[in-house]
Amino acid sequence: MSFMMQVRRRNMHITIVPIHEANDDIIFFEEKSCTEFGKVQLIPKGEELIVYIGIGQDSLTLENIRFLGGISRKSLANAKEDAAVSAEFSLIMNRAENPELGQVISSFMEGWYLAEYQFSSYKRAPKLNQLTMRWEEESLREYDQAARIRANAVNLARDLCNEPANKLTPTTYAERLKQVFRETDVTVQVIDGDELVSNEFAGIHTVAKGSSEPAKLVVLTLDRDASKEKIALVGKGVTFDSGGTNVKTGKDIGEMKMDMGGSAAVAGAMKLLADSDTAANVVAILPLVENLADGNAFLPSDIIRYRNGLHVEVGNTDAEGRLILADGLLYAQLLGAKTIVDIATLTGSIGSALGLKAAGVFSNAESDLWHYKQLGDQTGDYVWPMPVYDDYLHYLKSDCGDVNNMSSSPYGGAITAALFLKQFVEKGIKWVHIDMANTVRPWREQGYYVPGASGFGVRLLFEMVRSELAQSQI
Ligand code: BES
Ligand code: ZN
Ligand code: ZN
Repeated sequence: MSFMMQVRRRNMHITIVPIHEANDDIIFFEEKSCTEFGKVQLIPKGEELIVYIGIGQDSLTLENIRFLGGISRKSLANAKEDAAVSAEFSLIMNRAENPELGQVISSFMEGWYLAEYQFSSYKRAPKLNQLTMRWEEESLREYDQAARIRANAVNLARDLCNEPANKLTPTTYAERLKQVFRETDVTVQVIDGDELVSNEFAGIHTVAKGSSEPAKLVVLTLDRDASKEKIALVGKGVTFDSGGTNVKTGKDIGEMKMDMGGSAAVAGAMKLLADSDTAANVVAILPLVENLADGNAFLPSDIIRYRNGLHVEVGNTDAEGRLILADGLLYAQLLGAKTIVDIATLTGSIGSALGLKAAGVFSNAESDLWHYKQLGDQTGDYVWPMPVYDDYLHYLKSDCGDVNNMSSSPYGGAITAALFLKQFVEKGIKWVHIDMANTVRPWREQGYYVPGASGFGVRLLFEMVRSELAQSQI
């Protein structure tokens, strides 16, 4: 009986040993020309279950390897509880685009753990079997551990997005974040009630007026090295977007429980930064509101005055995301951030532009966009560069305010939304905006993706922060 998972490279051997005596479940990766990438064949052989997984004919990216990790885990869903898992890994190593042992193992295990995710708080679904891998060589444990930390952070974002709006309100969300960060270096501050008004968080206060759920502004701070330039992450946290007075119609409105996906991505990235000991100086700003319409709700044609003196005319109450993000951007600058990344499920238009695989990335530092695209490719959180044409500003013209929150053009809605946000960014500040309305759910439910939210943005934001840190050190 074999308990070995072996990777032979430069005379290295990796061995996974089972925790309990059990039958083996063996994973092989097949290279045969007829074998499709990700195709699974299960072959019971006595007490053993052999799983063949195709690796196709091309070289394997890290995302391909995560995918194989996810497929491997899913194919063992019916294996015995606590079964011993052995895998023949050498084919993956031979074919990896970057055959760096740590990254290959880490990516495979990241996919493995992400595929284990289940959101079953309100379901009597049977729990997934538990397969535990134990690394015999101490030096390899860190790769597995890194994968687990990454997957846990993504799964935190998935959990938050999957929660229905009656369970995740701005109040319970803020409480949850206090809990999540309790034993970490991240401090959690909650601004609410009159403080929102007296501190001029006009957008947040206004959007929340039509809901009986009070708004919360959560500020997460991780200051491990004050000598580093401060980076701000701002995430849209609309726990339900009914559209407000410009009420949404259509059967898919339940999707709008995930209109807090940007804030979930930021929370996940902060968790990853905290758990991975990154020496960063990061502040996360999460405006949490529910966009509903009762007798107190804000109305189309209302005027909102922001702390920078800008007056915004509400052309449409369903363009609420940009109204609360504007407060977030201004606050980030007040706190001294020189680099700001915001992320939001902001427009339906971004999906029309890009489809469902990649979110849109915008910036006032255009030359960095292809670098973010590259980070997206590496992490699996795909983004594609989008323009912020100042020429479109006239679409946001307002009769009685400085700017309208609604474009007068039916075209380029994701770009005019970004342009609106840009009005709240001072010169000299580096600003990046990610519109992830189209990626809050997985673009395909394969590999390590499971039903429900994708957890998009956690890994990308984490790598963006790390990349900013590396650049500022040069
Ligand atoms: N939350 C929506 C955007 C959205 C759409 C997210 C689809 C996820 C899936 C946002 O608040 C919104 O309603 N945007 C409007 C803007 C319009 C009124 C200018 C839109 O995209 O239609
Ligand atoms: Zn909306
Ligand atoms: Zn929204």
